[in-house]
Amino acid sequence: MSVTQIPLPFLYTVDHIGPGHAREALARDVLAGLTACPKWLPPKWFYDATGSALFERITRLPEYYPFRRELGLLREHAPEIARLTGAENLVELGSGTSEKTALLLEALREAGTLRTYTPVDVDGETLEAAARRVSAAHPGLAVWAVRADFERHLALLPRIGRRLVAFLGGTLGNLEEEARASFLAALRETLVPGDCLLLGADLVKDTGRLVAAYDDAAGVTAAFNRNVLAVLNRELGADFAPEAFAHVALYDARRHRIEMRLRATRTMRVRFRVPSLEVGFRAGEEMRTEISAKFYRYLLERELARAGYVPVRWYTDPGQDFALALAEVPGAPAARPDGDPARPRRGRRQGGA
Ligand code: AVJ
Repeated sequence: MSVTQIPLPFLYTVDHIGPGHAREALARDVLAGLTACPKWLPPKWFYDATGSALFERITRLPEYYPFRRELGLLREHAPEIARLTGAENLVELGSGTSEKTALLLEALREAGTLRTYTPVDVDGETLEAAARRVSAAHPGLAVWAVRADFERHLALLPRIGRRLVAFLGGTLGNLEEEARASFLAALRETLVPGDCLLLGADLVKDTGRLVAAYDDAAGVTAAFNRNVLAVLNRELGADFAPEAFAHVALYDARRHRIEMRLRATRTMRVRFRVPSLEVGFRAGEEMRTEISAKFYRYLLERELARAGYVPVRWYTDPGQDFALALAEVPGAPAARPDGDPARPRRGRRQGGA
């Protein structure tokens, strides 16, 4: 029997968020975060189309080293990562513009294993643009674009082929320690032996450089930070005056994490239409909008081990600014559904170092 190859492109879109649900989730977060003391908001709400574009500009700032370092690490090591993982499905969490993805996709195609690309992002527009670009550049590649929140929808991701889940940029650092543990465990639950995880992690370093990366001279990060207020105004009918809030970035050395905050420059009241809510700010009051944890190797590897992963490689630049941690789900990879034996992969374990 012959099977007809469908020409191209294979592009599927799945939305686990939906317009209504995003607003409901935002309203819940606002109710929880803006009635707390101190006030806070989860960072995922930065990423509407404007916020995604601003983040894109952040990645090109001279002060924002993580993006360039990670790109350099991927340039250097993507071929080995492809060989070690033998992945058929590249799943990218928080894929954004999928720029770094190109390197992993190339390497996996080169290795001859890649069949599917699964970008996952909260912003529908960014997701769709990236999915289209990748689909057009890789004829024959199945692209499953999944609009989802990686803290809520991991169990719904398509389970196709041997997977390499890439969670790049240091976005894991946006989660509090307990949330990181839950996330890593929940992801582990959806994976099977032989599946791999590639984590980008920003490393602890000189405080001045850390702070500068989140408080750039051109003010792009400040605009990115304030954009969350525009999102609240638009989505929940709030009446924030974004210019009345100052951008704050500080490094908490004890918890080795950056915190971004918005500081009210005067006393004010803010009204929301949905949910019906009125919130007061004192002059000087700060609302936390993001944490970005910085890692030590031993701590990250311990978090990975606790969640059931085995470290495979640790890639870092000479200055140890940033790292890529490759880990796998231990156990014998299952035979594939078509009956092929699992592809043997060589040199998997890391040497003594
Ligand atoms: C996309 C979450 C990795 O924490 O460095 C950049 C977001 N915030 N500048 C980070 C961000 C301010 C970024 N991540």
